[in-house]
Amino acid sequence: MSLIEWREVDRQLHLTNGLLSQVLGIHDGGALGLLHLGRPLAPDRSYRHLTGPPFTGFSNRLAEPITLECPTPASGDYRIPGLVVEQPDGSTVLELAYAGHRITPGKPALDGLPATYVESNDEAETVEVDLRDARSGIVATLSYTIFRDLPVIARSLRLRNDGPAPLTLRCAMSAVVDLPDDGWDFVHLSGTWARERHVRTRRLVPGRQSISSNRGHSSHVHNPFVALRRPATTEEHGEAIGVALVYSGNFLAEVEVEPFGTARLRIGIDPETFSWDLAPGSSLQVPEAVIVHTTDGLGAMSDAFHRLFRGRLARGAWRDRPRPILVNNWEGTYFDFDEERLVAIASVARDLGIELFVLDDGWFGKRDDDTTSLGDWVVDRRKLPNGIDGLARRITDLGLRFGIWIEPEMVSERSELFAAHPDWAVGIPGRPRTEGRQQLVLDLSRPEIVDHLERVLSDVFRSGPISYVKWDMNRSLTEPWSAALPPERQGEFLHRFILGVYELYRRLTTAFPEILFESCAGGGGRFDAGLLAYAPQAWTCDDTDAIERLAIQWGTSLAYPLSAMGAHVSAVPNHQVGRITPLATRAAVAFFGTFGYELDTTRLTESERVAVRDQVAFYREHRELIQFGRFVRLRGPFDGDGNETAWVVVSDDRRQAVLGFYRALNRPSPGPSRLRLRGLDPGLDYRISIWPPADDATALANAGTRRGDELAAVGLLIEGDRGEAAHRGDFWARLFVLKAD
Ligand code: DGJ
Repeated sequence: MSLIEWREVDRQLHLTNGLLSQVLGIHDGGALGLLHLGRPLAPDRSYRHLTGPPFTGFSNRLAEPITLECPTPASGDYRIPGLVVEQPDGSTVLELAYAGHRITPGKPALDGLPATYVESNDEAETVEVDLRDARSGIVATLSYTIFRDLPVIARSLRLRNDGPAPLTLRCAMSAVVDLPDDGWDFVHLSGTWARERHVRTRRLVPGRQSISSNRGHSSHVHNPFVALRRPATTEEHGEAIGVALVYSGNFLAEVEVEPFGTARLRIGIDPETFSWDLAPGSSLQVPEAVIVHTTDGLGAMSDAFHRLFRGRLARGAWRDRPRPILVNNWEGTYFDFDEERLVAIASVARDLGIELFVLDDGWFGKRDDDTTSLGDWVVDRRKLPNGIDGLARRITDLGLRFGIWIEPEMVSERSELFAAHPDWAVGIPGRPRTEGRQQLVLDLSRPEIVDHLERVLSDVFRSGPISYVKWDMNRSLTEPWSAALPPERQGEFLHRFILGVYELYRRLTTAFPEILFESCAGGGGRFDAGLLAYAPQAWTCDDTDAIERLAIQWGTSLAYPLSAMGAHVSAVPNHQVGRITPLATRAAVAFFGTFGYELDTTRLTESERVAVRDQVAFYREHRELIQFGRFVRLRGPFDGDGNETAWVVVSDDRRQAVLGFYRALNRPSPGPSRLRLRGLDPGLDYRISIWPPADDATALANAGTRRGDELAAVGLLIEGDRGEAAHRGDFWARLFVLKAD
C-alpha cells in the first residue's frame, strides 16, 4: 500500500495510513502549506480548498493562504518563523518556492543525528520536498516520514546553500504546524532536579507560550516534548497532538495564537543560542521532530510514542532484551567504598536474585568526594587494588553482571587531564569559568577531544568483563565558547557540542554492542528522545522516594516507554525528601520501569531480605510484560487532590496485566472504592491475584475470576472494608496481577 500520494493536478501531497492524514499543498506562489493534520481523510481527493485563513492587511497578497510549513520572517507573516536566514546584505526575507519532491520507501538516516528508523522499507514512506529561494540560493528540504502502523509523522529539515555567498542560519526549526484554531490546552513536562517532568497543562491564550532549554542539555526544567489536547480530551477519549524532538541540546517548543485565533506550533533547536554559517555548497541537517496525532486520548498518544521509541528509536542488542535487575552502590556507599565492601554488597545481591552490580561514581583518579578527578579514567588502586578487572571478576564469579559509571563530558580542575589540557575545558579566555558541582565541561565540539575520550573509555570498557555503562552528566553548560571556532561562528558551539556527544556515543555503542548503556544527567536532566537512540534506558530522576516518583514516572510516561525508565528501590528515610515509605510501596512503584536497588544490601534486615527476594522474583516473572507491554494510566497524581495513582501494563494479546494502585495519605472512613480498568479484553475472564499476598477483606472479595467487561464497566475492588483501611497507614500500594485462563 502506498502511504504518500502526489496529485499533480492539485499540487498536493497526502500522507495517510488510515490512522492519521497529513495533507500538504503547494500554494500558488510556490510556498508549501499545511492543508490538514489530523484524522485520516480519504485518498485520491483534492483538499485544496482547505487552505487556511488568507493574508490580511497586505493589499497585494489578500488571496494568499498563510498556513506555511517553512515560514520565514519579515514579509507579512508576523508569526513565529521556522527558518531565519541572514544574507550578505543583512536581510532575512526569503521567497521559498517548491522546486521538486521525491517519494521513497522506508526512511533515510539523518546525517550525524539520532533519528527514528525502519528495519524494512515497507514500514514507512518518506517524501522530501525542496523549497528554494532563488535570490539567496538557499534550499530547504523538508522531510516527512509516515509510519505504516502508527499514527506518527517524523519530520526534519535540511538546509543547503546553493548560492554564491555565505549565509547565516539564525533559526532552523525542525517542525512547524499551523493549526486552524486555538481551542487547545498546551501540555508540557516541567520541574527541576529531583522532580523532573511533572505534567503542566494550560489553555492556549493569544500570543506566544513556550518552554525551552538554554542550559546546553535538554534539562531537568523542561523536556523536549509537548502536546496539544482539546480541553475535553481525557486519557481515553479526544483529540491530541504530541510532538517530541529527537535532540538532547538546547531546544524551544512554542505555540503562538495570532489575532484571528489560529495557532502555530514550532519545535527545534533554541534560536536564542544558535546560529550556523552555511558556506556556499555546504548543508546542515537539523534534528527530527516526531508528531503523533490521535482522537483516542492521551493514552493512545503515549502508546504511539512508546511503540516507536521502544522499537524504532532505541537500537542495539538490548533493545528487545529484558533488562537486568541491578543494584547500584551510589546511595549505599557514595564515595566511601573499597573492593571488599562492594563485593559484600554484590554477594548479598546475588543471594536476593539481583542480576547486575553497578559501580557508581568514585572508582577512578583520587575521587573521595566530588571535587576531583573527572577526566582521569584510571582506576583508583587505593580503593580497588586489583583494578576494575579484579573487582569485576569477583562480581561475575558470583554470577552477577558487572557495570560501571562514567561521566565523559566532564573534567575536574583538580585532575591530571586538566593539568595537561586546561584549554580543553569550555570557557572564554580571560573570563572566570562558572563551576557546577566543582567541575568543568570538556569541549566536545572538538574532534580531538572526542577521539581522546573514545580512546580512554574504550580502555576502561576493555579493562574487565563490563556489560553495563551508566553515562552521567552532572552540570549544565556555561560560558559557551570554543577555541576551535572563529568569532563569527561561536553560535554553532552548543549544537556542535551535542553533535560531539552523539559521535562519542555512536562510536562507543558501535564498538561495544553487547554493553547496555543507561544515560543519566544528574538524574533526568537529559531524558530525551535523542539519547534514547543510543542508550535504551535512562536514569529517570535522582529522587527515589516512592511518592515523588509517582508524579515523575507518570509525567515521563506521557512520551517515554517504561523500558526507558530506570526506577530503583532505595533506603529510608529517603535521601532526597526524608520520607519513610514501606519497602513494598517502594518496590511497587519502581517495578514500573527498569527495576533495581540503590542501597547497601548488607544493611537489609533478615525480614527485608525475604521481602526483597520476593520483589526480585515478582519483577523477573513480569518484567517482559512491564517493559514491553502497553502502559495505561488510570488515575493520576495530577488529577484532583492527587492522593491516588493507578496504572496498568497490559500484554499485547491482552491476556495478562499488572496493575499498580497507590495512595499517598490514608484517610479515615473510606467508601468502597473501585477502579475501572482499560485495555483489557472485555470477553476474557481474568484471574486476579494480589501482591504482596494479602488475605484482607478486599483481597478475598476479589478472589476468583472477573470478566474484562465487568472490570471495565464496574471496576476492580480496591477497598471494600473500613476496618481494613484503618490499619494501612500512609504510602500504601497494592499490585493486582490479572491473567486470563
Ligand atoms: C548523579 C546521578 O544521577 C546519580 O545517580 C549518581 O550517579 C551521581 N551523579 C554520581 O555522582
